[in-house]
Amino acid sequence: MQPRDLSAHSVYQAGRGNEEVARELGVDPGDLIALSSNENPLGASPKAVAAVREAADSINTYPKASHADLIERLAARWDVAPAQVWLAPGGDGAIDYLHRALLDPGDRVLVPDPGFAYYAMSARYHHGTARAYRIRKAEDFAQTAGTILDAYDGERIVYLTSPHSPLGTEISIGGVAEIADGTDEETLVVVDEAYGEFTDAPSKVDLVRERDDVAVLRTFSKAYGLAGLRLGYLLAPGAWADAYARVNTPFGVNKLACRAGLAALDDDDHVERSVEAVRWAREYMYEHLDAPTWESAGNFVLADVGEGVEGVEVGERDEDGAGDEDGEPRRRSTAGGTDASPAAAVADACQREGVIVRDCSSFGLPGCIRITCGTREETERAVEVVNRVV
Ligand SMILES: Cc1ncc(COP(=O)(O)O)c(C=O)c1O
Repeated sequence: MQPRDLSAHSVYQAGRGNEEVARELGVDPGDLIALSSNENPLGASPKAVAAVREAADSINTYPKASHADLIERLAARWDVAPAQVWLAPGGDGAIDYLHRALLDPGDRVLVPDPGFAYYAMSARYHHGTARAYRIRKAEDFAQTAGTILDAYDGERIVYLTSPHSPLGTEISIGGVAEIADGTDEETLVVVDEAYGEFTDAPSKVDLVRERDDVAVLRTFSKAYGLAGLRLGYLLAPGAWADAYARVNTPFGVNKLACRAGLAALDDDDHVERSVEAVRWAREYMYEHLDAPTWESAGNFVLADVGEGVEGVEVGERDEDGAGDEDGEPRRRSTAGGTDASPAAAVADACQREGVIVRDCSSFGLPGCIRITCGTREETERAVEVVNRVV
């Protein structure tokens, strides 16, 4: 007895956390600084933490009212109808719901390379396939409508990530509209705004209100600091009526997450402090890292540490920064990439000095590491360690 053939599927590898690394190194987790998963260094919204404590006594009942309340709140916040808010266990869960609702077997999605691995993984789980468009280092990782439309070949969904992780670049609202205009009527353009709170650019949600072929993905994991609760949502086209109700896992979002989300939405102070901390840390890294960096609109900075590491070339695996031939996106079965890459060597050496950063080899960037914005103290220490290692 075996599961179905899963050989085409890969294992998702997240950035390494301090508890996991501490166990491996036999040190105290408190002695490590984890800046590898773009988590919020200020912690969760205190109002959300209080709401979780309060709701703990009632977890014997299903999350009926809290789920409905959070959907109402988000609909009001974004000025869309409640049916357009697809609440899910994390942005990842919202991607799954979208694929359940949209993909017929064999349908294709178009994803960025480098980019977030789960778009393609989830499409495959839902009997779809994925192709990739390239975001090139030679073009400073610019995301333009032209490049994406050139790669487009009738896919059912086109994924855009703005701000992009790990690159930090964005696409303009005009660029998104141009892509939506240039693709088929039955193609949905999804703008992943997981890092949307950290940019000064406006959300693309205006396009969700104006047209029926654009959706926006948001999460409570980053600016709200609720990554451990798994809470995210899709803002879907208004014309889709009850599609969410038809594909949604019953009670897929737990009560603590719903109550925390509601409380976090009332905690502007925490979001403002989180965004302010990120602005400071980004500037500090641009200025003080002894490695080239790219300007970032997210809560992290990408640094080129390939320079100066002997015997290995900087940058991507091939000349134009592409993944596999034929637009097949990279399958990230290893988080750390190859041991030979400069990024792996640097990340490894930093880890031994107590700072965990993300080796971007698995994104196809073996010369780059991604450093999450920490508190001032954490960021200063990370920069000191990276500089020493580089
Ligand atoms: C670009 C991007 N999209 C979506 C997500 C999903 O986040 P979550 O499932 O925690 O909401 C992440 C997580 O790091 C991400 O980097």
